[in-house]
Amino acid sequence: MDFVEAGGAKIPAIGLGTWELRGRTCARVVEQALKFGYRHIDTAQIYENEREVGEGLRASGVKRDDVFVTTKVWTTHFAPNDLERSTKESLARLRMTEVDLLLLHWPNPQVPLAETLGALAHAKQMGLARHIGVSNFTVALLTEAVAACPEPLVCDQVEYHPYLDQTKVREACAKSRMALVAYSPIAKGAVKKDQTLSRIGRAHGKSPAQICLRWLVQQNVSAIPRTSRIERLSENIDIFDFELSDGEMAEIFRLGTASGRLTNFAFGAKWD
Ligand SMILES: NC(=O)c1ccc[n+]([C@@H]2O[C@H](COP(=O)([O-])OP(=O)(O)OC[C@H]3O[C@@H](n4cnc5c(N)ncnc54)[C@H](OP(=O)(O)O)[C@@H]3O)[C@@H](O)[C@H]2O)c1
Repeated sequence: MDFVEAGGAKIPAIGLGTWELRGRTCARVVEQALKFGYRHIDTAQIYENEREVGEGLRASGVKRDDVFVTTKVWTTHFAPNDLERSTKESLARLRMTEVDLLLLHWPNPQVPLAETLGALAHAKQMGLARHIGVSNFTVALLTEAVAACPEPLVCDQVEYHPYLDQTKVREACAKSRMALVAYSPIAKGAVKKDQTLSRIGRAHGKSPAQICLRWLVQQNVSAIPRTSRIERLSENIDIFDFELSDGEMAEIFRLGTASGRLTNFAFGAKWD
């Protein structure tokens, strides 16, 4: 497993996304993922599966300290008292004393950013999170957040896959020495039919999803693909035994456009 390092955090390059994984399926997939060698799990308050993520982790037999666990504070909990209370509730559901990474899930213009960042930093200072960061922040918001936050922000978790050009956010993260964590990294499954990725995959004996994930980690990006299928868990992590050439990387970069986004921005805010 490779790692993406930023602000003292060592983030495993591949993690398991858990959005829409619920109940026993979620606990089972998390348990199996850890047995297959995953060491990074991504959840969020709004996914309503923190309890099952914790259960899966304990059932796997893998030590808590060997797993990088991220959760995200939902936007209705951005007032300072709410952030602290809801983070403690997340930890109670996970049955953990701290998470490795605590993120603001989306920007929320209804609460002053500096107040929320102060509370996020305080959560870290209280030992509720080892590291803190943001998600779905544009370059402008990221710049504002980095300047206002009393503690280092280690990542911006954003949508990123071959169909979406994220050059600006990548450069902004690099400038602030932050990691980029890619969500919807296989474009919600769409990459499996991609002709370019299939052709490159044939040359390496890999699937289009594996080529896509390899392309991300070769950029020093951490990717968190989700699957509910046990057989795909091993496929999505089996990407560390080959390398894409500069030409192959460039070819995949050419698939990206500014309008390739699959996610709508919440709260009527704008991406740029
Ligand atoms: N911060 C945010 O606002 C935010 C937003 C969205 C997502 N996320 C995080 O990022 C994670 C991943 O994003 P995502 O769930 O939107 O999409 P994704 O990981 O790009 O795609 C998931 C879809 O791809 C399919 N799939 C998985 N592995 C595959 C493979 N090897 N070949 C073909 N299809 C495959 C899955 O179906 P099967 O289950 O049938 O395998 C599922 O339908 C989420 O689960 C969540 O943790 C964060």
